[in-house]
Amino acid sequence: MIVKNPKFEISAVGPKQYPSNNLPEIVLAGKSNVGKSSFINTMINRKALARTSSQPGKTRQINFYNIDQKFYFVDLPGFGYSKMSHTEQEKVGKFIEEYLFSRKNISCIVLLIDIRHDPSKNDIMMFNYIRSIGAPHIVIANKADKIAPTKVNSYVENLRNSLEANESDIILPFSSEKKIYTDTVWEELEKYIND
Ligand code: GTP
Ligand code: MG
Repeated sequence: MIVKNPKFEISAVGPKQYPSNNLPEIVLAGKSNVGKSSFINTMINRKALARTSSQPGKTRQINFYNIDQKFYFVDLPGFGYSKMSHTEQEKVGKFIEEYLFSRKNISCIVLLIDIRHDPSKNDIMMFNYIRSIGAPHIVIANKADKIAPTKVNSYVENLRNSLEANESDIILPFSSEKKIYTDTVWEELEKYIND
């Protein structure tokens, strides 16, 4: 996909601020610092439209990026950020859940997991939650630049086993650092965008 005019639209702190048009929404979920905001920038080929940071916990609101009036990339706050107070983590968790559970416009949830490590308890919980609400989803095994290219497939398969994913669940490697695998991921996401 060639993106021409991506725009930041709104940083929502509650449902009233979600966009009122009916564009499909492709949602980025994953733990803090896994690379959700970077994923958006890489996919749309912009350096810093979505705000990224080496400091986890950067994204606290739900940020909507309008991509050529065709669909939204929705950047969720990261979950499981240990330096957040327990109360605040709970608040963020509820906010994310409320959006995922009730938002009708969601066309695909993209769950990012660090390819290098076994999925955390939170990763597994989120994966199961997404499955339980029956939302279309794909898993991105991110930061693939951190492992040898020849090992990428076996890491993806390990992740598939740890998540107890079905054969039909799509898990794709990705790297914002190296900007590789973007074509394969676009191919998958385009299925969720009506042109
Ligand atoms: P929160 O907003 O805190 O939830 O984080 P996030 O998931 O949006 O992560 P963000 O995109 O801000 O990236 C966090 C850090 O990881 C930054 O330092 C990025 O440069 C780095 N990063 C993101 N993607 C990749 C990747 O594919 N490879 C490597 N090596 N680093 C990455
Ligand atoms: Mg972010």
